[in-house]
Amino acid sequence: MKIILITGSSSGFGLEMVQDLIGQGHFVIATLRGATERANIFDSISDKSKLKILTLDVCSKEDIKAAGEYVKTEHDGSLDVLINNAGYGLYGALEDISEEQVRHQMEVNFFGPTLLTQELLPFLRKTKGKVINISSVMGRFSLPLGSVYSASKFALEGLTEGLYYELKPFGVQVCAVQPGAHRTGFVKAMIWGDKSNNEDSPYINQTNGLLRNVEEMTSKPTATGSDNVSKIVTKLINKKRMPRRVLAGKDAVATGIAQKFLPEALYHEILHRSYEKVFGSEI
Ligand SMILES: NC(=O)c1ccc[n+]([C@@H]2O[C@H](COP(=O)([O-])OP(=O)(O)OC[C@H]3O[C@@H](n4cnc5c(N)ncnc54)[C@H](OP(=O)(O)O)[C@@H]3O)[C@@H](O)[C@H]2O)c1
Repeated sequence: MKIILITGSSSGFGLEMVQDLIGQGHFVIATLRGATERANIFDSISDKSKLKILTLDVCSKEDIKAAGEYVKTEHDGSLDVLINNAGYGLYGALEDISEEQVRHQMEVNFFGPTLLTQELLPFLRKTKGKVINISSVMGRFSLPLGSVYSASKFALEGLTEGLYYELKPFGVQVCAVQPGAHRTGFVKAMIWGDKSNNEDSPYINQTNGLLRNVEEMTSKPTATGSDNVSKIVTKLINKKRMPRRVLAGKDAVATGIAQKFLPEALYHEILHRSYEKVFGSEI
């Protein structure tokens, strides 16, 4: 039985992982914003002896400290796996996004996991544990109106790669999971730039193009379910050695193959053409 802490456990990949990992006999510290008021999210979990629900807004230094304190006092300062999963997508043209929105995106998707990892590393070193960062295929490439979300995931990728080597001598393993499009609460939780919907925005046609595309993609019943990422994470936890990064979902794997085998100019030409389809011929 491993002790596993997950952020963003209230929905999507996070909730799926809580259910699956408890099902496998692990002890899960399921963290989320406003845990006390939202404990009913976990009603369907039958073995509550394997579940601790803890409030953790990844932007809150106090919550991060409290999570560390909990592991220290209740688990003898031992943590086997940290899964940095909480996150959301900020979309919109850079000119349509406010400074506050940019900063908040980095706060949740990068500073939060960075500072939580920093807080919990002494406990992960003790067990020679694992850090699994839920990044995105958009931590490998970017697209119009997705630059800031991508930047937050590129930052998380940089953190993951550096720590992969930095923590090796201590036996702590670090991996980034890079999902493509999956059916979760992600699209509903997407935040658009403050000015994205302004009819006089120079980017309004691109915004409408991306909106149409996102709706099409997510209404497809064939879209990959959140269980895919949970299965991948479960395998990583059971593996003796984790790779530095893992792609999740057919679209992500296709991107990885294209990046690996296509000449760079051709790869970018293909991206450009696919963006023209999504955003109209103005790209
Ligand atoms: N679904 C996809 O297609 C996809 C693809 C690539 C990468 N990802 C990544 O996968 C991760 C999980 O997303 P998901 O797809 O499962 O979407 P989701 O269903 O919207 O889940 C996101 C989770 O993050 C939590 N969260 C947001 N801000 C937070 C904060 N400040 N502190 C703590 N928790 C916070 C949300 O909690 P609340 O309920 O409190 O809002 C929710 O539990 C994200 O990092 C996302 O970038 C998703």
